[in-house]
Amino acid sequence: MIGRLNHVAIVVPDLAAAAAIYRDTLGATVSAPVDLPEHGVTTVFVELPNTRIELLQPLGQDSPVARFLDSHPAGGMHHVCYEVDDILAARDRLIAAGARVLGDGEPRIGAHGKPVLFLHPKDFCGTLVELEQA
Ligand code: CO
Repeated sequence: MIGRLNHVAIVVPDLAAAAAIYRDTLGATVSAPVDLPEHGVTTVFVELPNTRIELLQPLGQDSPVARFLDSHPAGGMHHVCYEVDDILAARDRLIAAGARVLGDGEPRIGAHGKPVLFLHPKDFCGTLVELEQA
């Protein structure tokens, strides 16, 4: 059911410093920062030949990633995103299998303008999983 790895997301306390590590130390192509107020994050995308890395920094008071930084002050891996062809079919199959979909279970428009859902980490090897309709 799942397809390509769309991205791995890393939450960081200092987005400019993180972008510099990927650009200057690791030699990757790094985008300019983009504020996504509706998601409570500022993002930088690192383009790799086979996938991308999404660097996330909290934006605003109610950022969903602010608590993550409280417990991981140096930053850390936050989620992996897999592509699916049909997000509603994927959701229904996962719910039928007993997996928990976060929020109200309805897809939201994610950082790339495509519908996304998040799955409970306790059902997926301790890792928050994002599904994105490709
Ligand atoms: Co993501």
